[in-house]
Amino acid sequence: MDKQLGTTEETEFKTLTERREELEDIGQNCSTNPTMGDIINRRFSRRSFLGGSLAVAAISTTVSPLALLTADEARASDSASPFDFSEIEAGVDETHHVAEGYDADILLRWGDKIFADSPEFDPLKQTAEAQSRQFGYNNDYVGFIPLDGSPDHGLLVVNHEYTNAEIMFPNFARVEKVTEDGKEEDKVVLGEYTKELVDIEMAAHGGTVIEIRKVDGKWQPVLDGKYNRRITVNTEMQLSGPVAGHGRVKTAADPSGKKVFGTINNCAGGVTAWGTYMMAEENFNGYFGGELAEDHPEFKQLKRLGAPGGQYEWSKFYDRFDVSKDPNEANRFGWVVEVDPLDPASVPKKRTAIGRFKHEGCESIVNKDGRVVLYSGDDERYDYVYKFVTTGTYNPNDRAANLNLFDEGTLYVAKFDEDGTVTWMPIVHGEGPLTAENGFASQADVLINTRLAADALGATKMDRPEDIQPNAKTGKVYVMLTNNTKRKEEEADAANPRAKNAFGHIVEISETDGDFASTKSKWDILLKCGDPSVADVGASFSTATTKNGWFGMPDNCAIDADGRLWVSTDGNNEKETGRTDGVWAIETEGEGRGTSKLFFRVPVGAEMCGPSFNPTSDTFFLAVQHPGDAGLATYEKPATRWPDFRDDMPVRPAVVAVTKQGGGKIG
Ligand code: FEO
Ligand code: CA
Ligand code: CA
Ligand code: CA
Repeated sequence: MDKQLGTTEETEFKTLTERREELEDIGQNCSTNPTMGDIINRRFSRRSFLGGSLAVAAISTTVSPLALLTADEARASDSASPFDFSEIEAGVDETHHVAEGYDADILLRWGDKIFADSPEFDPLKQTAEAQSRQFGYNNDYVGFIPLDGSPDHGLLVVNHEYTNAEIMFPNFARVEKVTEDGKEEDKVVLGEYTKELVDIEMAAHGGTVIEIRKVDGKWQPVLDGKYNRRITVNTEMQLSGPVAGHGRVKTAADPSGKKVFGTINNCAGGVTAWGTYMMAEENFNGYFGGELAEDHPEFKQLKRLGAPGGQYEWSKFYDRFDVSKDPNEANRFGWVVEVDPLDPASVPKKRTAIGRFKHEGCESIVNKDGRVVLYSGDDERYDYVYKFVTTGTYNPNDRAANLNLFDEGTLYVAKFDEDGTVTWMPIVHGEGPLTAENGFASQADVLINTRLAADALGATKMDRPEDIQPNAKTGKVYVMLTNNTKRKEEEADAANPRAKNAFGHIVEISETDGDFASTKSKWDILLKCGDPSVADVGASFSTATTKNGWFGMPDNCAIDADGRLWVSTDGNNEKETGRTDGVWAIETEGEGRGTSKLFFRVPVGAEMCGPSFNPTSDTFFLAVQHPGDAGLATYEKPATRWPDFRDDMPVRPAVVAVTKQGGGKIG
């Protein structure tokens, strides 16, 4: 009989893709916000806002089937490209690849020492205690915070999003024949979880702060760095902002409603202008188990978030993760956490003013009026794009004065109209439908129920918003929409134009007059992703894009010191595109707009995360997440043993530092 993860002693293993699809489904948006429909006609009438020459460009850059160039042909034709590197070949194999003339050095691997006295990694004898002093699992966001203004010495901050038990733990998973719908199939089956294994998982989540330094052109960790820190599911944190102390976040263990332990499923993230580390809590719902009665007052909002998801077994050993025992604990997750890495004893703050949803990332920018604007995507099919504008202003001369800026301000959710306008709608108690009669008694209620509030406002249902990156040089903002294979034809709209959108797209917001706090701006689609040589896919890369240059499933992204866009992907391997994930450089301006080039690719099974530059953009930090997680992978038989390639070492997620041979700017 098939068994579900999180409910039984022996659990049928589900692939990463299957588990994610589940996580993305359970909180599905059932609001009746209009999808605009009549897509074809409206999409073309929308061109009027693009204006004359751009409108022509938009039409002519639609690639005809089989029009893809080889890399050599493209190189010969793209002399005007702002990128100057030789594209690598797309493909799939056991290791990583970087453009010629660059070095990609392994900087930190799962299990590596974070402190001088951390235990050495022994995968056969791993303990939670050791793990809590070592680099965690599944590095996602990577940020660099310079020390003393140096581009060659600073703090690396890294999110550890989740764990892959089947390739982490020896003698735990095995391949068995499982009969499903009368069909016999080989599947990976997990063994029985113990509290010790759960404790290791908890210690492998969270984040790492570690001092790093470039010595003789190579980056290395500084293990006796005084700022080094591991943040885990057991790190004490504080709820701050409008929700702190509210009745709905009080638990038996914390009657103050202010003291929380840990952060989970931290995906993309951000670093602020004042050098704090922002950790977004994404699929927190999957860590909660148990059941809640449908008439429980928290049932509706938790269901909208997919909680309890039961993808992990933590609730078996820890009551706080069991919603039937303490549903308010789940209200203490789904926030953005701000960490002050310059004070290793500081208590990280969950900034409730920024709202509660599946925060993919949280990149911020100082606006021209000094207010700080933070963008965050809610990564679920049909969920929303948000931004938060602080009330106070950034003070470049007083770091301490900036530390609580995110406790006060206005949260907005985006409505993308078909005429190319984006309206940022304030999520403020008492305004519009956000009243007590509609179940929102205070701003705390509004924020805990952010998704329900955004539903009520009629926000635009997007194709899984991931990382969102503001560009200080251009006033534009890039929104990664990773995919939504469930969108139906009648649900297609101008901002999400493809039904069964398997490959995702990138929306570009042009904030009015470069004012990131603007509440009415313009938007356009930068790219519809996927293989442009397959007409049905409807991809829109420029004709200068090679067969290596297209990609699907944009996820994280970064802007370099020159204001150029780099995008990393998640899922190309799973969709059998003949290419792994990687990082692509994308032209956003001028005639080359929509041209994409492959710079780096990951080993089989991995997803590409990071990406992040040091201030001079001569180092590119990339994170290789869940390598080896392909096919029937187990600890004993991973799809690759990257990066050590040793029989006695498991496959390990790792952060890579990319530099140009002889020095110089990346790309
Ligand atoms: Fe953790 Fe939305 O990817
Ligand atoms: Ca992501
Ligand atoms: Ca980013
Ligand atoms: Ca993703």
